[in-house]
Amino acid sequence: MGAQFPRARPRRLRRNAALRAFVAETRLSAQQLVLPLFVRPGRKQRVAVQAMPGVFQLSPDECVREAQLAWKIGVPAVILFGIPEKKDARASGAYATNGIVQQTVRLLKKELPELLVITDVCLCEYMEHGHCGIVSRDRDGGRILNDPTLKLLAATAASHAEAGADIVAPSDMMDGRVLAIRTELDKRGFEEIPIMSYAAKFASAFYGPFREAAESAPQFGDRRSYQMDPANAAEALREVALDIEEGADIVMVKPALAYLDIISRVKAQFGYPTAAYAVSGEYTMIKAASAKGWIDERAVTMESLLAMRRAGADIIITYAARDVARWLKEG
Ligand code: PBG
Repeated sequence: MGAQFPRARPRRLRRNAALRAFVAETRLSAQQLVLPLFVRPGRKQRVAVQAMPGVFQLSPDECVREAQLAWKIGVPAVILFGIPEKKDARASGAYATNGIVQQTVRLLKKELPELLVITDVCLCEYMEHGHCGIVSRDRDGGRILNDPTLKLLAATAASHAEAGADIVAPSDMMDGRVLAIRTELDKRGFEEIPIMSYAAKFASAFYGPFREAAESAPQFGDRRSYQMDPANAAEALREVALDIEEGADIVMVKPALAYLDIISRVKAQFGYPTAAYAVSGEYTMIKAASAKGWIDERAVTMESLLAMRRAGADIIITYAARDVARWLKEG
């Protein structure tokens, strides 16, 4: 046990800013941030996402501009989501050699070779029905078929690696997809490309605004047969354990702020590089309340991200990455 009052006075170390910084246990740095970008076909296109002020669907050239601004201010990484020209039942846009993400990866790596380009590996944006896997056509139509989906996910990840992606990040939540992707990457000579798996991804209402941004809302049903039940923590640890056994290099928890207990337990139990995804709804809530003048956008954003770091996140994916990097610079 430590000392007791009056020998112990915790306030002694809070007397001024330098002292407080001296004993701060957790720090937030721009080096840990990832900026999500939504890329759509065209040139000079910036289509505002209504529910996410400051977020746009960008054509590849605009994507490069956005990534340049982020890179300049110290954000080392982006994660790409694609909005294809057309969708179908096989998500063929997801693994097309000249798909929208593949094109953008090539362009980004050409213009900004040192930027870490992460690609979201999923099928929902490319499927006409908006689900993350193949949908069965039989009598029990509407089921999401696990094993046949794995091939498409592996092909998608490999096509991203082929285009030059630095990290692939599967977000579909099919069972066995990390192994399927690792196997395909290795087979094609990409054994050095890491997998950041959305290991504990919950079926969350906080994804609402993203589905407008990515045009990926499911056309029937919901994602609860593949994404996790928000009630479960022990299961999240089993999901993470499976992904690590299958070859994940970085594990992600998503959403972040309402799931800090999961981040904390994942980091404590596995000690793996751990990412937290501050999702669209988290961003939107802060934007909306601060637009009303009800909360301080900068203070609330910084406090939220610091809390994710304190919980154990090494990496934070946030739509506010550029603002945060600027605020950190301003001090
Ligand atoms: C794709 C995917 C989603 C998000 C990231 N990847 C949407 C979903 O699962 O419905 C959500 C990100 C966010 O809300 O910011 N499967």
